[in-house]
Amino acid sequence: MDNASYISEIQTESYNCWLQYKRNDSIRPPAYFSRIVINGESQTLKAAAEELKTGISQMTGIHPQVASEEYSNNAITLCSLNNKHIQNIPDLDLLAREINDEGYIIKSASETGTEGLQIIGKTDTGVLYGVFHLLRLLQEGSGTSDINIIESPKNQLRMINHWDNMDGSIERGYAGGSIFYKDGQCTGDARRIKDYARLMSSIGINGISINNVNVHEVETKLITEEFLPEVAKVADIFRIYGIRTFLSINYASPMQIGGLGTADPLDPNVREWWNSRAEVIYRYIPDFGGFVVKADSEHRPGPFTYNRTHADGANMLARALEPFGGTVIWRCFVYNCLQDWRDRKTDRAKAAFDHFMPLDGEFLDNVILQIKNGPMDFQVREPVSPLFGAMPQTNQVLEFQITQEYTGQQVHLCYLIPQWKEVLDFDTYARGKGSYVKRIVDGSLYPYKYSGITAVTSIGMDENWTGHPLAQANLYGYGRLIWNPDLSEEEITNEWVVQTFGHDQEVKETVKAMLAESWRIYENYTSPLGVGWMVNPHHHYGPNVDGYEYSVWGTYHFADCHGIGVNRTLKDGTGYTSQYFEENFGLYESVETCPDELLCSFTMFPILTN
Ligand code: GCU
Repeated sequence: MDNASYISEIQTESYNCWLQYKRNDSIRPPAYFSRIVINGESQTLKAAAEELKTGISQMTGIHPQVASEEYSNNAITLCSLNNKHIQNIPDLDLLAREINDEGYIIKSASETGTEGLQIIGKTDTGVLYGVFHLLRLLQEGSGTSDINIIESPKNQLRMINHWDNMDGSIERGYAGGSIFYKDGQCTGDARRIKDYARLMSSIGINGISINNVNVHEVETKLITEEFLPEVAKVADIFRIYGIRTFLSINYASPMQIGGLGTADPLDPNVREWWNSRAEVIYRYIPDFGGFVVKADSEHRPGPFTYNRTHADGANMLARALEPFGGTVIWRCFVYNCLQDWRDRKTDRAKAAFDHFMPLDGEFLDNVILQIKNGPMDFQVREPVSPLFGAMPQTNQVLEFQITQEYTGQQVHLCYLIPQWKEVLDFDTYARGKGSYVKRIVDGSLYPYKYSGITAVTSIGMDENWTGHPLAQANLYGYGRLIWNPDLSEEEITNEWVVQTFGHDQEVKETVKAMLAESWRIYENYTSPLGVGWMVNPHHHYGPNVDGYEYSVWGTYHFADCHGIGVNRTLKDGTGYTSQYFEENFGLYESVETCPDELLCSFTMFPILTN
């Protein structure tokens, strides 16, 4: 194959990412593969059948017929649990109790004693997830005779945040322009948005916010009648695939588009303005997910202007959304980007905890705090944010960054699953040993009403979505990991490699080895020992020892003629260590016990002169 046609083939395959459904002659399709029966009328069930039909046709050459029937013996049957016609599944009630609303059961002929295979979801979305699961098994080359799967997602909210601007650019985007906007308009191509929804649904994503957290003048109008019909078109596509649409909002909207003189959360006119805005939004998008809010950070407006707390600000929005079942996802990335930290006591790492922990218990129960994995800003290495576990009475969502802002900008290979697994497996000790971050955000440690995981996405208009095809691994891995944080890195990597590159042993081993080592290699040549922030200002593409854009004080790593690293101990540093529960406080407080990879995050190493 010459180079040009190789590239064009790769690009076409690349567009389909892990849903390529490559022809695989080793699959021995049973007779019932020629019929798909859907038991219900919803668009979601139809989408599930369409996906299954496409997958089976491409992988086996059999072209199944899709029929709408109550039940059929010799077929793959797709139906929801509340369907009274489900037959031949022993202990169905028991099984039903074992899965949650998005869960599913897949049972093959030998298990049910009939000919055929059943994919049963508690809801239609569960059926769709079940279909993607079956297709994944087929892509991996698994047999179909003894399937007996009972599966539910571990996390309730499994979200993606876009940082897309309406001029078509993407803040920290490395894969082309926005798939939703261009030149101040919503220009998204329905076909592409549908393919995006398929990709996201196949890894279990159930919520997507479609505009940047930094909401500029034009995006402020996304919640008005001028743009809501366009947003609704995206939401209509997403809904079919089990995805709710969210918008980032501008806290000062009542002033910028509402004609009010204030955005004070306690002002009755401001409250009324948001209430009626919510009504309008839900008229267009009945299942609208809610607002994502960045307030009082990096020059964004917020309640601090009116001497109000972030609880005041978030609760006002929450009251407006509550009658419609919406949520406010309030970001904890709040810090003063102009602060002078040369006194070596002022510490940005402390900001989120200092702002939010004292407010525990003050937020309404449809407010969710969104917390970045580390206390700073998506560095290649950071300690885990001490806010996790510190607010038993406040819903929490963890925020990762898939887009490789500080981790190679989708030019360098940096597989982030190992990093995210470390975060999820981190023991906060909030309620004694075993209080892992994954147990906080899955809602099992504290009885949160809402919780889960979100991430800033890496996709754009590039044909392969992510700029570099290998960067697709982070997107895929993110979805699979947050569906079930107990999946191993290896399981996730294996799945992705086979679905993307097929079964060639040498290719598999080579790609897996490259991915496995890449994060630590990237760390070692950019920011070893947790030194952090060795990047060029503005673009954050390094290395640069002076890389910080907001102030003239130098950079956070303090690497200068006096030494390197930041003393964050309680004893004689910034005191950040005291934000952790006892066990971790002890670990980080002493240079003897601090893990090597975090040494420069907690200790200042002076340059010794004679
Ligand atoms: C980082 C990033 C910004 C972004 C911000 C945020 O600072 O560089 O582009 O707006 O995070 O998370 O809000």
